[in-house]
Parts: sequence; C-alpha cells; structure tokens
Amino acid sequence: MFVFRALVSLSLLLGTTHAAAVSKAPRARTVVQWDVGTWAENIAVRSNGQLIVTMLGNAEIWAVDPAKSTKSLVATLPGVTGVGGIDELTPDIFVIAAGNFTLATGTTVPGSYSIWTLNARSKVVKKIVDVPGAAMLNGLTTLDAIKGDVLVSDSGLGTVIRVNAHTGATKVVISDPAFAPPAKGIQIGINGIRLSKGPKKTLYFNSFGGSSFGGVPVAADGTPTGPVKFIAQNVGSLDDFALSPCGSYAWDVANGQNELFKISLKNGTATLIAGALDSALIPGATSAAFGRTSKDKNVVYVTTSGALAAPINGTYVEGAKIVAFNVRGL
Ligand SMILES: *[C@@H]1O[C@H](CO)[C@@H](O)[C@H](O)[C@H]1NC(C)=O
Ligand SMILES: *[C@@H]1O[C@H](CO)[C@@H](O)[C@H](O)[C@H]1NC(C)=O
Ligand SMILES: *[C@@H]1O[C@H](CO)[C@@H](O)[C@H](O)[C@H]1NC(C)=O
Repeated sequence: MFVFRALVSLSLLLGTTHAAAVSKAPRARTVVQWDVGTWAENIAVRSNGQLIVTMLGNAEIWAVDPAKSTKSLVATLPGVTGVGGIDELTPDIFVIAAGNFTLATGTTVPGSYSIWTLNARSKVVKKIVDVPGAAMLNGLTTLDAIKGDVLVSDSGLGTVIRVNAHTGATKVVISDPAFAPPAKGIQIGINGIRLSKGPKKTLYFNSFGGSSFGGVPVAADGTPTGPVKFIAQNVGSLDDFALSPCGSYAWDVANGQNELFKISLKNGTATLIAGALDSALIPGATSAAFGRTSKDKNVVYVTTSGALAAPINGTYVEGAKIVAFNVRGL
C-alpha cells in the first residue's frame, strides 16, 4: 500500500531536474479528455493508428482515434479495479496487466494482479493468469511474440517477471536492488519497461522512486546477461516511456513533475521537451507512445492522470487526457 499524497513532497523535492531545456517547444494538441477523477495509465498503438488506453481507478480500456479526436470504451475487465501495462504481442492482440488499485485511497492490493489479453478487433478480453505472488504489476513489454512471452515489472517487489500469454506460465527472471522501492516514501520502484529491438536486447526501465532510468542486457528468455545499470539519474518520478523508432532515445514522462523528457540511451542526457511542475500541459503524465502511421510517425502521444496524485500548485486537477506532441526534428 502507498499513499498518493506523498507524491506532492516528492515533486517539491525534485522540482529542479538536472536537465537541459529544449530550445524549441514542440507543437502540442489535446486529442481527447475524460472526466475529472479519471487516470489514464498506459497506452499502446494499433497498426491502423488507433490508440489503446488503459485506465487506473476503473478497469476500463479505451480506443482513441487520434485523427478524429474521438474515443470509445472497448472493454471493462471484471474482478479488478485498474488496468496498467500494455503491449502488442501479435497484430491486434495486446497483453495487459491488471489488479486492484483504488484511486480514492491511493492504495493497491498485493496479490490482486493478473495478466490478460485484448483482441482489439473483436474487443474480447481474456484472463490469462492470476499472479498472486506479485505486489503491484506495472510496466509490460513483449519479449517473444512467437513463444508468447512478455516481461512485466513488479513495482512493489522490485522484480521483472516473464509471463507466457499462451500457457500462463510465470517466472521471476530479474530481481535487482536497482528495481526495489525506495527505503522511504512511495513504495514504487521499477515502473515502465521497454525492450530494445534487434537480436541483442536491452531491457530499459524507469525507477519511479529512484527518479532514474536504466537498462540491463537480457537473453532471449529475459534473463540478464550483464549488470543492471542506471543511464540517467535525478530526472523526476519517471512513470512509463516510449523508445524512439530510431532506437536512440527514450521519450519518458515524470508523473509528479508533469514533464516529458528525451533521454539519450547512449549517454543519459535528459532533455526537457515539454511541461513543468506548475503547468497544466500534461498534468501527472503517465506514459508515452509513438504513432504508427505515415501521418503520425513523428508524434508522441502522452497519457495523463490529471495530476490526481500531486495536484498542481496544491489544488489543480483535471480529467485524464491524451496530448499529441509533434517531435519531428527534436
Ligand atoms: C479486487 O476487487 C474486486 C472488485 O472490487 C473484488 O471483487 C476482488 O475480490 C478484489 N480482489 C482482491 C484480491 O482483493
Ligand atoms: C549524448 O548522445 C546524443 C545522441 O544519443 C548526442 O546527440 C549528444 O550530443 C550526446 N551528449 C553528450 C554530452 O555526449
Ligand atoms: C500555478 O501557479 C503558477 C504561479 O502562480 C501559475 O503561473 C500557474 O499557471 C499555476 N498552474 C496552474 C495549473 O494553475
């Protein structure tokens, strides 16, 4: 269990980030917005350009058409109160982490987590497996589409678990002090995770409590082949991120600071792209994803939580939304 309000002091603490500000701000557009009190937690993109958005605080999955700025409810998962990490496994089949997370109290229930699939064409959701040993499943990334393996982060226990979406087999593949929740404060360690493309894979990760971004080389079965290393530190309370299509940067959001960063995978330089501690541009930013069509391949879609966990200036909250940033040339 953790208490949201602790984020407020965290944001004050991290108010000044060690990052260079970008000279040119990208064009930003609000694509869609939900009611006050909602929390968009994560995002994936279909090959047809539709955005698939998961919600925390209710167990809804939404489809968003970024070109038309419309949204529609795709599915509500039974028996859980929140939906988190999501990634595409095979075309239009998404794997999703879900569990009991209550926004009103800011608490999660260890042992309530499970892994599901969504067929984005038929809108059918199916539970694959309960993961009773997990404390808080959070980020999710596809490891092996043919075998059906995904990796999922456990923010509460500081581990990465491999889950097979066909058989439901689960195995802890990485457990490292760098993934652990901090000694004090909100008990969220490792958060977003993304695997690099190509044969030599690196699992990139955010540490929310550790305000850092890092990586670990992994084998085809998800087990580490080298040490876990931090790449950028003191960035902010990093939530989820997208790897750029060129494979050089992580486009990463700091939830408590309402900011979007571009982090070099090579040298860890974190460049502030948009947002600010007192700005309502992306309040409580939660995740990011690149568009997949020719029209929006230079667009980063950022999901927000409306600053529910850390109201801006202590009072300002709004409904969850998706903001599109055209980052061409940045
Ligand atoms: C999770 O929440 C649902 C809906 O409130 C409830 O039916 C279920 O028992 C909860 N699961 C756990 C493990 O607490
Ligand atoms: C860090 O790497 C990026 C490319 O990923 C490069 O553009 C930048 O100049 C490098 N910065 C430093 C300080 O080496
Ligand atoms: C927060 O306060 C600052 C300083 O008064 C102001 O510039 C900013 O617009 C406020 N932010 C919001 C979201 O109200």
